[in-house]
Amino acid sequence: MAKVQIDPQPFICTTPTVLVGAMVDGKPNFMAVAWCGVVNSTPPMVSVAIRPARYTLKGIRETMEFSVNVPSTGLAKEADYCGIVSGAKVDKVSVCKFKIFYGNLKNAPLIEQCPVNLACKVERILELDSHQLIIGRVEETHITEACLTDGKPDIRKIKPLIFAAAAPAEYFAFGKSVGKSYLIGKELVEKRSGLSGQTFRLNQAEGQQ
Ligand SMILES: Cc1cc2nc3c(=O)[nH]c(=O)nc-3n(C[C@H](O)[C@H](O)[C@H](O)COP(=O)(O)O)c2cc1C
Repeated sequence: MAKVQIDPQPFICTTPTVLVGAMVDGKPNFMAVAWCGVVNSTPPMVSVAIRPARYTLKGIRETMEFSVNVPSTGLAKEADYCGIVSGAKVDKVSVCKFKIFYGNLKNAPLIEQCPVNLACKVERILELDSHQLIIGRVEETHITEACLTDGKPDIRKIKPLIFAAAAPAEYFAFGKSVGKSYLIGKELVEKRSGLSGQTFRLNQAEGQQ
């Protein structure tokens, strides 16, 4: 298969689009972040990569708390707006008509309209080059009740907003399932190792991230 080498870049094609919130100069502010990831399960931690010039970063560094709000596709316009204007100049909460609520972390403003909200305490800050990597310990996870099925978060109801980095960058909706994780590969495991389905199920925990 012919390949073409392009400039080295962190092109992993898609990432989530989240709204990172902080209290800045005494008021809640949100910025769009595409460079967001999960970095630890116990205790639960996420990371967000933020350029030093962002107004939101000032609040995160001052209070050492922040939030990660997952917008659904219906909030694409508001999420984009939070990524093109700075809270240093406008009150994004008022323009976007966000309803704000708080859990126990009073410096981690949460957006009611977003189906998933994480309230985080800063665990570590890694000063890279263009970005600072904020690693946050997730203290609280809130989910809109209507986005649960049998008490568990349902991605089809959450409808996360996917960011595709390819130029021109664009937002996408969650697509169709192509198979169950930790199961679709089972056929190859069995073929290679001769393990029965039963034995494979016992070993499945090894597949955790
Ligand atoms: C979809 C999208 C994703 C973005 N991702 C990031 C990001 O990961 N890190 C970052 O520093 N800026 C990112 N930005 C830019 C900031 O959201 C933007 O500069 C914003 O206006 C900063 O707001 P603030 O000054 O109120 O903090 C993104 C913008 C968009 C539209």
